[in-house]
Amino acid sequence: MSILITGATGFLGCRLVRELLADPGGEPVTVLGRGSEESLRARTEAAVTWLDGPPLPPEALTRLRYVSGDITRPGLGLSADARARATDALTQIWHSAALLSLVGDPVPLFRSNVLGTRHLLDLADQAPTAQLVHVSTAYVAGRRLTGHVLEDDLREDDGFHLAYEETKYTAETMVHAWARGTRRPVAVMRPSLLVTDRPVPDGLPGQPLESLSHVVEAGARSMTVRDKGRALLLARRQGRGDTLRLRAAFDPGGALNLLQADYAAKAMVRAAQALRDTPSLRTLHVTHPQNTAMATAARALERCYPGVTLVPVPELTDPTPAEALIGEQTRFLDCLAQRRTYDRTNLLQAVGDLADPEPVDEDYLLRALQPPDAATPC
Ligand SMILES: NC(=O)c1ccc[n+]([C@@H]2O[C@H](COP(=O)([O-])OP(=O)(O)OC[C@H]3O[C@@H](n4cnc5c(N)ncnc54)[C@H](OP(=O)(O)O)[C@@H]3O)[C@@H](O)[C@H]2O)c1
Repeated sequence: MSILITGATGFLGCRLVRELLADPGGEPVTVLGRGSEESLRARTEAAVTWLDGPPLPPEALTRLRYVSGDITRPGLGLSADARARATDALTQIWHSAALLSLVGDPVPLFRSNVLGTRHLLDLADQAPTAQLVHVSTAYVAGRRLTGHVLEDDLREDDGFHLAYEETKYTAETMVHAWARGTRRPVAVMRPSLLVTDRPVPDGLPGQPLESLSHVVEAGARSMTVRDKGRALLLARRQGRGDTLRLRAAFDPGGALNLLQADYAAKAMVRAAQALRDTPSLRTLHVTHPQNTAMATAARALERCYPGVTLVPVPELTDPTPAEALIGEQTRFLDCLAQRRTYDRTNLLQAVGDLADPEPVDEDYLLRALQPPDAATPC
C-alpha cells in the first residue's frame, strides 16, 4: 500500500505531504518530481520540516520515497523500473504539480497543466485500484464574475481571463472523461487563492500573494530614476509616509476568496480519505466560507507600504512609467477580484467536524504581505 504525489515541492504540495505524514499508521509516500532523487529529497524535507503543525510521528520522513520525473514528458519521463516503483501497490494518487504562471506564454501552461494531467492519467491506468485526487482550482470558473458557483459546475461559456484558468479547466474536463470511463474513485479539489501569514524564507516554496508585494516594490523601484521610489522604500522601512498613487485595473467592489494554505491541505487530505471508497467523481470547493473584500486587501497593502495609495480604475489609460510597469504584472488582479461565491456542500460533507478556518482579514493580510527580510515589519 502506498501513496504517490506530484508537486510535493510546491507551496500547497509540501503541506499536503506534511498532512499525509501526520497519520501515524500511514502508508509510504512516493514523491514524483523534477531533479535528482537526492535534490528532491532535500527540497521536500526542507519544506516539510519548516512547516507549522502538530509534531510529526517519529520516523515520519522515512516514509518518503523519491522518483525523478517530469509531468510534461511522455510517460512522465520514467524508466520502466522507476514506473514500476512509482505504481507499486498504489492506493492513492495526488496530482498537485502544475505551472501557475498568470501571465506569459500559454504553451508551457498547456504542456504542464493539460499534457501533464494526461500523462498522470496514463500512469493512474497502471494502478487500477488507486483513488485519484486531482488538484484543480476554483478559478476554473473563469470569467464568471457573479452568482453562486456550484461544485458540479464546469462550463466554459463565460470564457477565461487567463490561459492558466483555461488549462486547469481543460485538465478537469479530461479527468471527468477519465473518471466516467474507469468508474474509479476520483476527488477533484478546487482551492481558491492560498495564503499564509508566516513569512516564507528564501529557498522554500513561496505563496502566490508574494507577487502582490513584488508588484508594489517594482512600481516603487521603477521610480528610482527620479529618486522617488528609493525615498518611498526608505519611508516604508522607516515607517513614515510619502505619496505614490498607483492606479490598477480591478473592481473595487469585488472580493477575493483567500484560504489559509495549512487549512486547505488539512481539509483536502481529510476529504480525500473520506471519499476513498466512493467509486465516482466528486468535486470539492476548497474555499473560504467568506470572501475578503478587495478594499480590505488594498488597505492591507497601503498599511504595508505607507505612502502608497492604490487607486482602482476600470481601465488603465495613460499609465505613468511605474503604473505601466506594474500594470503588466497586475493584469491578474481583475480576475482574482470578483463578486461570485462558492458552494461548499461537498467539502463540508467530506471534512466532517473540521472547524471553519479563521477569517482572512486586514491584519492577517498585513502579516501575509510582510517580506521575510523586512527590517521593520509592516
Ligand atoms: N497556490 C495556490 O494559491 C493555488 C490555488 C488554487 C489551486 N492551486 C493548485 O494547487 C496545485 C499546487 O499549487 P502550488 O501552490 O503547490 O504550486 P507551486 O508552489 O507553484 O508548485 C508547483 C509544483 O509543481 C511542480 N511542477 C511544475 N512543473 C512540473 C513538471 N513539469 N514536472 C514535475 N513537477 C512539476 C513544481 O516542481 P518544481 O519544484 O520542480 O518546480 C512544484 O512542486 C496546482 O495544481 C495549482 O494549480 C494552487
